[in-house]
Amino acid sequence: MVTEEQVRQSLDEVLVPGVKRSLVMLNLVRQIKVSGQEVTITLASSALSEAAQDWIRGKAKTVVEDLPGIDSARVEFVGVRPVELNQIQNVIAVMSGKGGVGKSLVAGLTAVALKRQGSEVGILDADITGPSIPKMFGISERPSGSNTGILPILSRSGIEVMSFNLLLPQEDDAVIWRGPLISKAITQFWEEVVWGKLDYLIVDLPPGTADAPLTVMQTLPVSGIIIVFTPQDLTTMIVKKAVSMAQKMGKPVLGVVENMSYLYIAEIDKRVELFGKSKGEEMARAANAPFLGQLPIDPELARLCDEGNIERYNSDAFTAMAQALMSALSQITPAKGK
Ligand SMILES: Nc1ncnc2c1ncn2[C@@H]1O[C@H](COP(=O)(O)OP(=O)(O)O)[C@@H](O)[C@H]1O
Ligand SMILES: [Mg+2]
Repeated sequence: MVTEEQVRQSLDEVLVPGVKRSLVMLNLVRQIKVSGQEVTITLASSALSEAAQDWIRGKAKTVVEDLPGIDSARVEFVGVRPVELNQIQNVIAVMSGKGGVGKSLVAGLTAVALKRQGSEVGILDADITGPSIPKMFGISERPSGSNTGILPILSRSGIEVMSFNLLLPQEDDAVIWRGPLISKAITQFWEEVVWGKLDYLIVDLPPGTADAPLTVMQTLPVSGIIIVFTPQDLTTMIVKKAVSMAQKMGKPVLGVVENMSYLYIAEIDKRVELFGKSKGEEMARAANAPFLGQLPIDPELARLCDEGNIERYNSDAFTAMAQALMSALSQITPAKGK
């Protein structure tokens, strides 16, 4: 007799239209009942339009009825809130004292590094003031959904992305929202987006230590925080503020990343510290967390981000940062037997 597991495996071939992740990975499969030659499958209808449900019903029926010994498959839909559906192992928030220091870049690279080492990853772009995540990943499609939820967009390498920018009528529309509204919107991204099963959700926080980042930390089960800064920050005060906020919330700082640390000039084989000496060690001490590394100002990186190809980036500095990050994450993440 066909087992429940075999049915589940065949459902893993059914990709949900719009997001292109499988029913199983989006955790939409609620129940499988095999009795003799008949199978009844219960799926969550979250974020699925009538048309999407019809398509999935047909597809699921076909793949399951193809299993040897199965005569007929019945597909039923039930309403489930996305927040009850989602299984997210770790929420990592990326924070900075101010804007323009490369916070979104570090959030993006963190997701890329985790995806490359085989994890399932999503990015929640909570930075309404400058949502650069979709641009870096070359995403401009409008997310699909229904009145029961929203589906994220999948990047080229398979990272789930959700951003306010993707929901605006025009990509360039300025968003002038007040703190409480931003907080509410972020909460909705947590509760109403069908993220499904993820090892990591990276949250690109709005800059600073005001209301919006505070709400994220209160509402989302953040497991660790990465703090980004540049050597031009005049004092450690900003980092200390971020650290003290993290501590007040009882959230561990995973580490600190220094961006735009230097510019390497190949012709003279020299690193020029445009914004002054590195503050990495000093910041790490202030945060009582590891220094995860320095990223240079890299024209290649800037070009890839502009082209929407951040997923193609490679450099020694990035590799070193990714390694330090993995080791910091292994402190908070229970080892997964994959
Ligand atoms: N190390 C770097 N090398 C090259 N370009 C960078 C680097 N860091 C950031 N940038 C560029 O600077 C801009 C601002 O970075 P971003 O990550 O959006 O900052 P923030 O999120 O802190 O406001 C982006 O266009 C990004 O491509
Ligand atoms: Mg940003």
